[in-house]
Amino acid sequence: MFNTITPDIQLDMARLPRHIAIIMDGNGRWAQAQGLDRSAGHVQGVTTVRRITEEASRLGIGYLTLYAFSTENWNRPQAEVDALMHLIATAIERETPDLIKNHVRLRVVGDRSRMPADTLARLDRCVADTSAGDGLTLVLAISYSSRWEITDAARRIAAMAAAGEIDPSAITDDTVAGNLATAFMPDPDLLIRTGGDMRVSNFLLWQIAYAEIYVTDTFWPDFQPSDLRLAISDFQRRQRRFGLTGEQVK
Ligand code: IPE
Ligand code: IPE
Ligand code: MG
Repeated sequence: MFNTITPDIQLDMARLPRHIAIIMDGNGRWAQAQGLDRSAGHVQGVTTVRRITEEASRLGIGYLTLYAFSTENWNRPQAEVDALMHLIATAIERETPDLIKNHVRLRVVGDRSRMPADTLARLDRCVADTSAGDGLTLVLAISYSSRWEITDAARRIAAMAAAGEIDPSAITDDTVAGNLATAFMPDPDLLIRTGGDMRVSNFLLWQIAYAEIYVTDTFWPDFQPSDLRLAISDFQRRQRRFGLTGEQVK
């Protein structure tokens, strides 16, 4: 079955990635390239989030995880941090009715203890209001880093072991995965990074063990639905071997 709505890029609709994760990078460079303040790039980036969420939802993608703010991003100038937190909260609030209309369910992963109470409250409200959504699950990684998440899981598993609830020799990779903040979602099949840098910046290190990686030079504010379809079509040309030989997976 082929998608005929977008004849420019042929997608095999039977072989879509179930989970796409995106490192939305390049807002600042996009703004600076046209003599604007970095914050203008973040504002424009929100428009891209809306466009790409709509496209993923329309295509029937199961999970879309967006890296919106990392643990390390707390070290940016305070004015930029404040502006980003404000932008995230107001955008989520504004978009909630459309998310509900499109059956999108919002989830948030990240270290809540560092987030402003007001931002948290508005995010929580959107998560609650969209909880019945049975279409796309949109996951925002905010105040998130993989090392934070894995450390947190280690702490929880150790506490269970100390309490005698789990035998250390019985700990498997499922135990670890099940204690991550992302336990509710499958591992990403496709990881996209905009802005051209070939690195993962502390994002989903455990979960991307077998993700297909796609990096584009396009800055996030310029990233279009057609760029998403291009990334998916590239993904569909790859042979995922999971450690096996090409013959074995054929
Ligand atoms: C990504 O854009 C958004 C966040 C990290 C919050 P940047 O702000 O990192 O933009 P560049 O990488 O400096 O261009
Ligand atoms: C990664 O972008 C984090 C987000 C997209 C939220 P950064 O701009 O923080 O990554 P580095 O610093 O270039 O690795
Ligand atoms: Mg960046």
